[in-house]
Amino acid sequence: MPTLLKKIPSKSSSSIEYELMKGDDGVVYCTCPAWKFSKGAKSCSHTRDFMGSHEASLSPEEVKELKRKEEAEVSKRKGEQEKRRKSEDEARRKAIEEKERKLEEERKAAAAKFVPKLSYKILKSDRSIIWPELDKNFHVDERDAAFLEIVHEMSLDVPQNVLLTGPQGCGKTELAVWFSAKNERPMVVMNCASIRETRDWFGFKEAKDGTVSWHVSDFIKAIRTPNCTIVLDEFNRLHSSLHNTLYPLLDSRRQTWVEEVGEMITVAPGVVFFATCNIGAQHTGTFTLDAALEDRFGQRVECNFLPKGAEIKVLVDKTGIPEREATRLVEFANDIRAKVKGEAKGGTSLTRAVSTRQLLQTAILGRRFKASGKEYADALLYTVIPYYAEDERPSVQLLMQGKFPEAKGRAK
Ligand SMILES: Nc1ncnc2c1ncn2[C@@H]1O[C@H](COP(=O)(O)OP(=O)(O)OP(=O)(O)O)[C@@H](O)[C@H]1O
Ligand SMILES: [Mg+2]
Repeated sequence: MPTLLKKIPSKSSSSIEYELMKGDDGVVYCTCPAWKFSKGAKSCSHTRDFMGSHEASLSPEEVKELKRKEEAEVSKRKGEQEKRRKSEDEARRKAIEEKERKLEEERKAAAAKFVPKLSYKILKSDRSIIWPELDKNFHVDERDAAFLEIVHEMSLDVPQNVLLTGPQGCGKTELAVWFSAKNERPMVVMNCASIRETRDWFGFKEAKDGTVSWHVSDFIKAIRTPNCTIVLDEFNRLHSSLHNTLYPLLDSRRQTWVEEVGEMITVAPGVVFFATCNIGAQHTGTFTLDAALEDRFGQRVECNFLPKGAEIKVLVDKTGIPEREATRLVEFANDIRAKVKGEAKGGTSLTRAVSTRQLLQTAILGRRFKASGKEYADALLYTVIPYYAEDERPSVQLLMQGKFPEAKGRAK
């Protein structure tokens, strides 16, 4: 009886298998056509390979054993393959589950109640004179803080005027508020752009029951309150008709005669004047004041957008947005700011920067968006993108898509 040595798959067709056999005479033959039609001493590549192999020298029992081992090896490998495939499927399923769990966690975190702490609180007030609480989340450069400490100390002996310049929404007004809160001073913020007439500043005379009395304005009250901080907000927009009356208050005389009320006004000890000036987009860092003003505000703090780490912390602390999202928002804003300053490599330049105020608004709105299944960055379509003119918008949108590929919507 011939013994089956092995089955050999055909190279030309996967459905055909040849059988390599050993006859009782010890000759090895094959069922393939090449063996059948070979001339002389019959052979084929299968028998020749076999004869040259180690297997050929084995007894039929040994060949059987070898075959059993081979089959066992094949089935072991198949088992392992199956196991690997199953564990890969399981890992994939787990990764999807984990991603969904994370998204749901993020959505829940965004939906959690968090009352944004955008600004300072007012501890008490007397008309427009306020006593602000220290905003612990307000970041002040160490060097500026030390300078302002000296201003506070010197104010009792020497008149102190400090000019705060910088781009829109970078924290000029609130730096003056921080100064007041830190030193427990009362303060008043005068909006120079909206107060137009002398009477708005100094008050007016009124006749009542046959007597004429002076309605004293909050500005005068503040000037007469020791240690008061007076913020002349947007001072470069002060109407020129007011220069002559205001300037004597600001120089070393610290007094002014107000014709309309017929009184001399004298600045109380410790009063510090801050004037804020907004450097608009058309200015790229340098800012010149008229000579009379510059003369009176000989000390100037150049405010600017916060350093990256500090701005991220402000966003997280004030709005509760995750640090990862705050980081991306600040990076996006810094990309735009670099283009405004002309510092960005290549590409177009922009005329309008993104302010800290805008980032805070984006973070607050972004949380609400995330809570309802949208993305944080979708808020930019309402807080940043619409503020760019048609010609600048595409490059801002490009920066946005680069930083927030997941943001779905497009600005209209
Ligand atoms: N250094 C800072 N630390 C924390 N929050 C800040 C800081 N700077 C600005 N902000 C926040 O940004 C917002 C804008 O600040 P602020 O009103 O003082 O800016 P501004 O420079 O006076 O703006 P504008 O030029 O429009 O008057 C506020 O909500 C403020 O709390
Ligand atoms: Mg301001």
